Amino acid sequence: MPEPIQQSSQYALGHSPQELDRLAFQAKILEPFTRSCFEQAGVTAGMNVLDVGSGAGDVAFLVRELVGADGQVTGADRAPEALERARQRAEALGYSNVTFVHGDPAQMTFDEPFDAIVGRFVLMYYRDPVEALRCFARHVRSGGILAFQESDNAGRSYPPAPLFDRTFELMGKVQELSGAVRCMGPMLYPSFIAAGLPAPTLATHVGALGSQDPAVDHIAEFIVMGLRGIMPAIIKHGLATAQELDIETYAKRMAEEFRARGGMLTSPVFIGAWARKAAA
Ligand SMILES: C[S@@+](CC[C@H](N)C(=O)[O-])C[C@H]1O[C@@H](n2cnc3c(N)ncnc32)[C@H](O)[C@@H]1O
Repeated sequence: MPEPIQQSSQYALGHSPQELDRLAFQAKILEPFTRSCFEQAGVTAGMNVLDVGSGAGDVAFLVRELVGADGQVTGADRAPEALERARQRAEALGYSNVTFVHGDPAQMTFDEPFDAIVGRFVLMYYRDPVEALRCFARHVRSGGILAFQESDNAGRSYPPAPLFDRTFELMGKVQELSGAVRCMGPMLYPSFIAAGLPAPTLATHVGALGSQDPAVDHIAEFIVMGLRGIMPAIIKHGLATAQELDIETYAKRMAEEFRARGGMLTSPVFIGAWARKAAA
């Protein structure tokens, strides 16, 4: 049995420039689902919104599109490298009303309550997501919105494409060893309730890719970006050797194998949950 990386949850993929590029790529794939969840939740023009675990800034920039020039967006992340990238991008986009702050909002204080608090793939890194939601709710005005998105399980291929399946398995194992909650998606609903919030509205999304899709090579490269980021942890914990994975040729082999098997791939299930804080 490999040892846990550490007791508390960390972000196993790190914040290298490659990982920040990967997050931005992932954000493009998820943009329609995330946008739809926030729109349905009621994030709208003029709001003051906090994005928890802002990473490279993609969710904050999407929220900026919804709140417009009269709104305000604050992204918070505990990783200085991510904040630096997000700030550079905000400047390049000319978004003077999007700012990024260092820290964990569950432990921070803010001058004014927010109209909405949002987050994507961040509750999974909290050791106690229910307590985190309770803390976030304190930063939201009465009637304000809490909207989060997380995923469930790994993607899968049918008929099995072993290199894809191996990648999902390794990513899952490393996440678990880092202390992250892999199945945070289905835990959203009970977590909102346990945090004293109203039962949230739910939405789901699953991506699917056929083996003749022209995007196969591109998606294989994207998936291997994640695998590359966790290589040190894979090797450290004896889950596979560098020789066995041969990362430089992995994406090409994976795409070729997938095409040769003629099947399809489904993504993890993405789950969105949102609710409005009850009036005090
Ligand atoms: C998977 S990335 C998601 C980034 C972004 N939300 C997106 O969807 O593109 C998770 C981010 O959450 C940050 N994070 C994890 N736990 C955090 C905490 N307790 N406080 C602040 N940031 C946190 C990590 O540093 C990382 O940048």
